[in-house]
Amino acid sequence: MFRKIVSYLLTCCLLLVSLQSCDEGRLYEDEVPISPEGRVVTLTAKLTGLSSWPDPSMYVVLAGFNDDSDYALINKSVPVPTTEGDEVSVVLSGIKENVTRVELCVINRLRKHIVSFYTIDENKLTSANEIEVDAGSLNVGMYNTIQERVFNATCANCHGAATSAAAGLYLTAEKSHAAIVNVPSKKLPDMNIVEPGDAAKSALYQAISTDVTITDEWHYNHTGEVVDDGLLALIRQWITHGAKKD
Ligand code: HEC
Repeated sequence: MFRKIVSYLLTCCLLLVSLQSCDEGRLYEDEVPISPEGRVVTLTAKLTGLSSWPDPSMYVVLAGFNDDSDYALINKSVPVPTTEGDEVSVVLSGIKENVTRVELCVINRLRKHIVSFYTIDENKLTSANEIEVDAGSLNVGMYNTIQERVFNATCANCHGAATSAAAGLYLTAEKSHAAIVNVPSKKLPDMNIVEPGDAAKSALYQAISTDVTITDEWHYNHTGEVVDDGLLALIRQWITHGAKKD
């Protein structure tokens, strides 16, 4: 009798253990398990402006991130096309489970995320171990990035896109470069608006990174305009590396 009870209890225990281990191996339907070598993403795109980035301060990469951090866990440089606009391919392999996002983007030398050009769809990323993506045609030029992400997004409303341009300064796409580079500042007379090679002597950089309203000349505080550290760093690097248009 006693033996019978023991063997009955043992069977129950075994059953419970096996049920539990079954549960642990559960898989979600659409997600393909990651192979031990990690996933591989091949991105193809027609790129212009890639060579304008001042390697190695900032560079265009295909990179993997975790949503909790701004720093790339894994990255691969994008090759510069022989002719502007030619198609290039970049292969990022060894993408492990900790990577939740893969982007074509700019990072700095510490691998910190600066600005994004293309983000691979999350569902596509988990759908297979080898993923191919076509990002289409992209202008990734350094100045074009500043124009689109900063001037068009934040400044042009007051500086030329509407009926007037504050301080006579046009920051719209066709006019901005000629209006700022080597042009004397009206508000900070000792400086140019942008002095190639020297952000500290560029009124534009001073306006957005320090509070220049302390001078009597200046009424509008610009320090709240660009709050993203990455974009501020982008403008500083652009000035430091010669403030080129292309
Ligand atoms: C809400 C309106 C407004 C926005 C938005 C704005 N500005 Fe201004 N900006 C002004 C005004 C007004 C002046 C004139 C200076 C003053 O009297 O305060 C000025 C002056 C300037 C000057 C000085 C020009 C000179 O000749 O010295 C620069 C440079 C400048 N802005 C850059 C920017 C940049 C870059 C952005 C976007 C990041 C921007 N501004 C966004 C209103 C604006």
